[in-house]
Amino acid sequence: MFGPHPFAAAMSKDQIVSLIPEYLAMSQAFPYLRAGSQKDLVFAAMHTNRDLPRHVELTSVVANFICWDETGGHSRVLRAGNAALPDILATEQFHSNLFRKDASRLLGGAVKPNYSPTTKRYLHSLYAGLSSKDPVVRCAYMVAFELHAAEMIQSLSATVVETFDVEADDLEYFRVHVGGEDPAEKYHEEMTSRLVGEIVPADSSSRFFDEFGGTASSGAGICSQGFPSKAMVPRSATMAAVIVVL
Ligand SMILES: [Fe+2]
Repeated sequence: MFGPHPFAAAMSKDQIVSLIPEYLAMSQAFPYLRAGSQKDLVFAAMHTNRDLPRHVELTSVVANFICWDETGGHSRVLRAGNAALPDILATEQFHSNLFRKDASRLLGGAVKPNYSPTTKRYLHSLYAGLSSKDPVVRCAYMVAFELHAAEMIQSLSATVVETFDVEADDLEYFRVHVGGEDPAEKYHEEMTSRLVGEIVPADSSSRFFDEFGGTASSGAGICSQGFPSKAMVPRSATMAAVIVVL
């Protein structure tokens, strides 16, 4: 369906240096957009005085888990239980802040996010998909983003390690995401495929894949900035699980 991620291709050091603040912007904005995407759905229920449908509960519970993970809470509580709760206030454990720290090390100075017009456009379109009232669209954007993120991080990690001559294990952001055995992976796959199975009825599967492909080929992501587009990832086990469900 799609080829390898563009970050896997050879990039010049200058390209990577200009990409890093864009990536930081996306990483920083993501949990806020992910959490906020539920707002429109509950306001719609309030507006029409209707109960929230179960599909909203399903996408929200996964969204909330992702936000908890992205803002560092999940790993802290896994490690130290409820006693770690006060420590969630140490926000340097946000994944975006781990990336910022690694990036500052690589670039030899403070790094700020760059909300460029391309990144802003991408984030607006991501938000529109994640907050869609249509559960099939919402689910397609969720799955596409997660799969894309996994592939993008893997490719970027390999490229950064090669370009800056560092060990992947020395960079915390990459260690958290790609380093070592990830025992959570198979549960993430199960969560995603069950979500798709519950939300996408058999007669909507082609619409799901259209939306899914559309998020990749919109050309609005940071991957398309000076790099080839269509950066999607159906090679992963999660995508295979999704295809099996549908
Ligand atoms: Fe993350």
